[in-house]
Amino acid sequence: MMTDSTLRTRIHRMTQVGVPGTPGAVRILDLRQENGRDLPEFEAGAHVDLVVSDGVIRQYSLLNAPSERHRYVVAIALDPASRGGSRHLHDWVEEGDVLVIGTPRCHFHLVEDAPYSVLVAGGIGVTPIWSMAQRLIALGRPFEFHFGARSAATAPLLAEIAAGLATVGVALHTVFADEDDRGLDLAGIVARAPVDAHFYACGPSGMLDAYLAAGQGVAEGRLHYERFAGTSAAATDGGFEVELARTGGRYTVEPGQTILEALKLHGINVPHSCAEGICGACEARVISGIPDHRDDVLSDAEKASNASMMVCCSGSRSPMLVLDL
Ligand code: FES
Repeated sequence: MMTDSTLRTRIHRMTQVGVPGTPGAVRILDLRQENGRDLPEFEAGAHVDLVVSDGVIRQYSLLNAPSERHRYVVAIALDPASRGGSRHLHDWVEEGDVLVIGTPRCHFHLVEDAPYSVLVAGGIGVTPIWSMAQRLIALGRPFEFHFGARSAATAPLLAEIAAGLATVGVALHTVFADEDDRGLDLAGIVARAPVDAHFYACGPSGMLDAYLAAGQGVAEGRLHYERFAGTSAAATDGGFEVELARTGGRYTVEPGQTILEALKLHGINVPHSCAEGICGACEARVISGIPDHRDDVLSDAEKASNASMMVCCSGSRSPMLVLDL
């Protein structure tokens, strides 16, 4: 179930990176609105829901510059374990096909007036990071760019990024695992950065865990990141009630259910997308009660405030939650 209004886009151009059908293969889709109009504005770091096939929706970061209004560009890495998402987009779509997408959402915000920015990308996680770099270039803000990938041959957007950074004299720092298996020196990157820098990272879980460990001493609110998959199991202990303030309806969340599932069983469809706590589509304002936060969207400070929660994965620490739904 998509949250916002949808757009019918056509694949204007499709570019292949790596050997088709093999691990590491990436397809880059240049999507343009079918009616030829400009697309809604987006922030660097934003993503869109993409309807892959019936009932299958996936989220992809926009990798192009936010100043581009005529297209959205996304990159799809082939997941060898995929049976319906990336596999379908690699095997079955062609230039000219129509794809339905949601309007962009952003939970990975760029602090545009930061004195300095450090951008760190791992593999396909380069997509929102490259969009951020293009925004910083447009703003004339100083930054550095670090990119780790399996190999130069499979690193998405490598030539485009190198050329773009070269126009403003920013070095592209790369580490390729087939040449150097130590990966990015995250501790060194953090240690060498100016004290007032903001950091941004997107990549595989292992890289992000190392990034968070390296950034433990970074001031609150300066260490930004986005994950591809949820890191916590959904809260399914149940045993509490949810009241929906707009209708007054009250529902029991049984053991084995998420709030989203319990409401769905009662015919209440809360907008959602990823269902694993990474996209932010199911966010609900909390009027009273204490959520058991399990998502990777809200910051620690936002979780501590208990002002909102993701109902696809988070539960309740109190017997009753009242939500602004
Ligand atoms: S549906 Fe994506 S965070 Fe809940």
